[in-house]
Amino acid sequence: MNTRYHDVAADRYDSKWGIDFGGLGHDQVTAKVEKALGRTPGRYARALEIGAGTGYFSLNMLRAGLIGEATCSDISPGMLETLKDNAKRLGLDVRTESADAERLPFADESFDLVFGHAVLHHIPDLPRAFAEFERVLAPGGTVLFAGEPSRYGDRLASVPKRAAGAVAPLWRRALSARPAPSAEGGEPDAALEGVVDVHAFAPAELSGLAREAGLKDVRVTGEELLANWFGWANRTLEATAEPDDVPWAWRQYAYRGYLLLQGLDRRLLEPRLPAAIFYNLMIAARKP
Ligand SMILES: C[S@@+](CC[C@H](N)C(=O)[O-])C[C@H]1O[C@@H](n2cnc3c(N)ncnc32)[C@H](O)[C@@H]1O
Repeated sequence: MNTRYHDVAADRYDSKWGIDFGGLGHDQVTAKVEKALGRTPGRYARALEIGAGTGYFSLNMLRAGLIGEATCSDISPGMLETLKDNAKRLGLDVRTESADAERLPFADESFDLVFGHAVLHHIPDLPRAFAEFERVLAPGGTVLFAGEPSRYGDRLASVPKRAAGAVAPLWRRALSARPAPSAEGGEPDAALEGVVDVHAFAPAELSGLAREAGLKDVRVTGEELLANWFGWANRTLEATAEPDDVPWAWRQYAYRGYLLLQGLDRRLLEPRLPAAIFYNLMIAARKP
């Protein structure tokens, strides 16, 4: 199911999720890596991305100089095709490999960093996947995953989604936007999203997976609360309208508002509140 869903999603994935390979993508990815590690990242010579998708993390990390050689793996060949196109356009050299995270086709101890973004929640057998991450990691190497939905944060995010769904007809009228063909039933692939998203996590579950795989110095942190509510509300509204009818000024407001609230989350909330209430969890750990 994950392969089929992501193969179909590959073409419009970058525009749907606002994936960026310029300054914004660079800053966002670098900030997430730094937050997950809790320090300024060094440079990892051999890096393996799990569920690399269209290359959001790998390509931005290559451009930022955080990784040397990038091997991008994903269960969906369609996503990897888009990743290859993106890498070519950006003049970046990457190796791609179709692979299930539960059965990695790589030799033991062959990477210094195993990482991913928004992928762990799709993997059915996580203990097996973490055992694979540990196996392919060289001693002293790092595991790092970001963008994983927290169970509590996910529940909290349903509030702005429902509220936005309720006011969507009024919002469209105010903007003179026609309803999208799928407006009555939400996003066309929303139902399938529920099927491919297998997990939402409590922080202790994530750290437990890493420890059981033999990893040490495990660190789980949370990010984005206000930014996430704002982002989900706007995405829910926008999904109900004809994309061409959503004014540029609205998109600017949504984009700038998200960045502003992300900054507030980072400075005010993330240092003070428990990881569990944020929408995104991140984990970093080390192979002894
Ligand atoms: C939400 S997307 C994230 C893509 C990319 N990391 C990003 O942040 O844009 C999840 C990705 O995980 C991949 N995936 C799902 N299940 C997987 C599995 N068992 N093994 C490897 N990749 C998987 C999907 O094909 C998809 O590309």
